[in-house]
Amino acid sequence: MAKTELFTIILPVLAASALATVPTRLVYQSPTGLWFENIAVRPSSEFLLTSISSPTLLTLDPHSKNITLDDVYTFPNATGLTGIAECDPDIYAVVAAQIIVGMARAIPGSIVIWRVDHTHKPPRATRIAPIPQSDFINGLAQVPGQPGIVLAADAILGAVYEISMHTGEVRIAIQDELMAPTPGARGGINGLHVCDETLYFTNTALAIFARIPFEVCDGSVRATGPVEILVNLPSDGQPKIDDFALDRGGRAWATVHPGELLLLSPQLNGTWRQQTVAGDPNGTIFDQPTSAAFGRRSPVDEETLYVTTATGQIVALNSEAL
Ligand SMILES: *[C@@H]1O[C@H](CO)[C@@H](O)[C@H](O)[C@H]1NC(C)=O
Ligand SMILES: *[C@@H]1O[C@H](CO)[C@@H](O)[C@H](O)[C@H]1NC(C)=O
Ligand SMILES: *[C@@H]1O[C@H](CO)[C@@H](O)[C@H](O)[C@H]1NC(C)=O
Ligand SMILES: *[C@@H]1O[C@H](CO)[C@@H](O)[C@H](O)[C@H]1NC(C)=O
Repeated sequence: MAKTELFTIILPVLAASALATVPTRLVYQSPTGLWFENIAVRPSSEFLLTSISSPTLLTLDPHSKNITLDDVYTFPNATGLTGIAECDPDIYAVVAAQIIVGMARAIPGSIVIWRVDHTHKPPRATRIAPIPQSDFINGLAQVPGQPGIVLAADAILGAVYEISMHTGEVRIAIQDELMAPTPGARGGINGLHVCDETLYFTNTALAIFARIPFEVCDGSVRATGPVEILVNLPSDGQPKIDDFALDRGGRAWATVHPGELLLLSPQLNGTWRQQTVAGDPNGTIFDQPTSAAFGRRSPVDEETLYVTTATGQIVALNSEAL
């Protein structure tokens, strides 16, 4: 008993002293505390933002002197949006659904993938395909070099769908128990991103960051090896790790609830180092961080990481400041 108490007192102190803090800047705070779920950065460097509690795709220019959050398009028959990914230049795949927010589930049959074309003014939205076989899609990822293909994370089935944004075809490309939730947990695979024919993902229930190699054969994605767990994150049974962004150095910047940003870096001996680089367990800087993306405006902006939160914040930091 005494030992347990000692640990609960000492651990936060150790965690705080091990913190390599990178300065952060609050770019935007939604006045209503709107839940930002995901972010895509346009070639123009403007942001597209989704919210699980609003059916409206939003946009914001982080470089504007007077930042405003503006509507792009409101999807019919939806209450919220989850993943967003650029599937062709300045054209985006977006997941819309009737979401049961506290449950991280969708009303069965309500999930639809849409295409939002920003090369048109005003942007043109097209319904691409329903995904009736899924009860919840979380992240979406583009596959570099494969225009029109996106991968979608089914957090309940523990699978990744391949979706052709050109034909509307949806098929399970990869299914693995390391993508599934644990019994009773709300969601397994959460964020997913592709680099060099490798799919990196987080599984919130299992508190892991992992990857699986794949190839694209005749336009179809298929795994070429097993899932490899790269990092086991601390977990007290509470869901913690959310989405992440990959940088050009192959490092992952992962958002962790309630308020931290973790840097996961591959080491020469094949292990991965994990460091808390910003935030604290009280959520003073990031309050429930949900996703992250790099800017695209200039070389400096490409090193700037923008983090969204479930409390309506967008926080920027310099990823080279360590
Ligand atoms: C910022 O934009 C809003 C909305 O367009 C406007 O109401 C407000 O006056 C602007 N503020 C400044 C300082 O320009
Ligand atoms: C919305 O849902 C209703 C009933 O569920 C259906 O009849 C209608 O076609 C849907 N509309 C769109 C645009 O999907
Ligand atoms: C791998 O390298 C890192 C960084 O040099 C080191 O901290 C770690 O102990 C090494 N792990 C193994 C298993 O060799
Ligand atoms: C978090 O909040 C608690 C209670 O207000 C406080 O004692 C603690 O110092 C805070 N920790 C950090 C890292 O800010």
